[in-house]
Amino acid sequence: MRKPLIAGNWKMNLLVSDAVKMVNELKSLVAGVNGADIVVCPVFTALSAVGEALKGSAIEMGGQNCYLKESGAYTGEISPQMLKDVGCAWTIIGHSERRQYFGETDELLNQKLKFALASGLKVMFCVGETLEERESGQMNDVLERQVIKGLAGLSDSDFDSMSVAYEPVWAIGTGKTASPEQAQEAHAFIRGLLSKQFGAGVAEKVRIQYGGSVKADNAAELMAKPDVDGALVGGAALKADSFAGIIKASV
Ligand code: PGA
Repeated sequence: MRKPLIAGNWKMNLLVSDAVKMVNELKSLVAGVNGADIVVCPVFTALSAVGEALKGSAIEMGGQNCYLKESGAYTGEISPQMLKDVGCAWTIIGHSERRQYFGETDELLNQKLKFALASGLKVMFCVGETLEERESGQMNDVLERQVIKGLAGLSDSDFDSMSVAYEPVWAIGTGKTASPEQAQEAHAFIRGLLSKQFGAGVAEKVRIQYGGSVKADNAAELMAKPDVDGALVGGAALKADSFAGIIKASV
């Protein structure tokens, strides 16, 4: 049985004071909740303060992105070591907004993923098709390319420190959630790819999160599907009560 992994991707939202207020509220709302791993991914400027606020709590923190070098002349970038320095255990890699707006390729993401893992961070690695790709029947090809190229060269033990997040681009921030059946179909396909590429043991242990307009009132039916092992939540993760609602619906 895979333990649900429920993560909030705050994207470019919340100033430091709002971020700290949010996690303080979240801590009390989920204090008695067992049975899920909980992660929040604030903006870089709020990491330090949120990290302080989360000390002693079971809620973990992650970055939303990081580069593939430890330090150096890479203006505007941040390293896994720097994320760890302020208390991050996780990072997101390969979010569709990074792929779409910042031109991140499968090859670059593969390098970032391997460097983050080698640096001791856990990674949520995102994949997902656009509406156009889905409607033109390319969904499986796109997922296969993203999984095979994105995860190329990983070892069995790397998979102990990562999850895959299936986030159909057409469901992100649109209010259009994939149906539980659509999510299950894509997750089962991804698990099949992992099995073919890395073996049944890897496929069985890797958590596959669903992302795209997850809310407290649709989380339970998504999570009930056998291959849906958690959620990566955007908009509904910005408020403590709605994020806590999703967490409670998932356990
Ligand atoms: P959403 O975003 O929940 O606002 O759709 C999910 C994500 O992009 O991770």
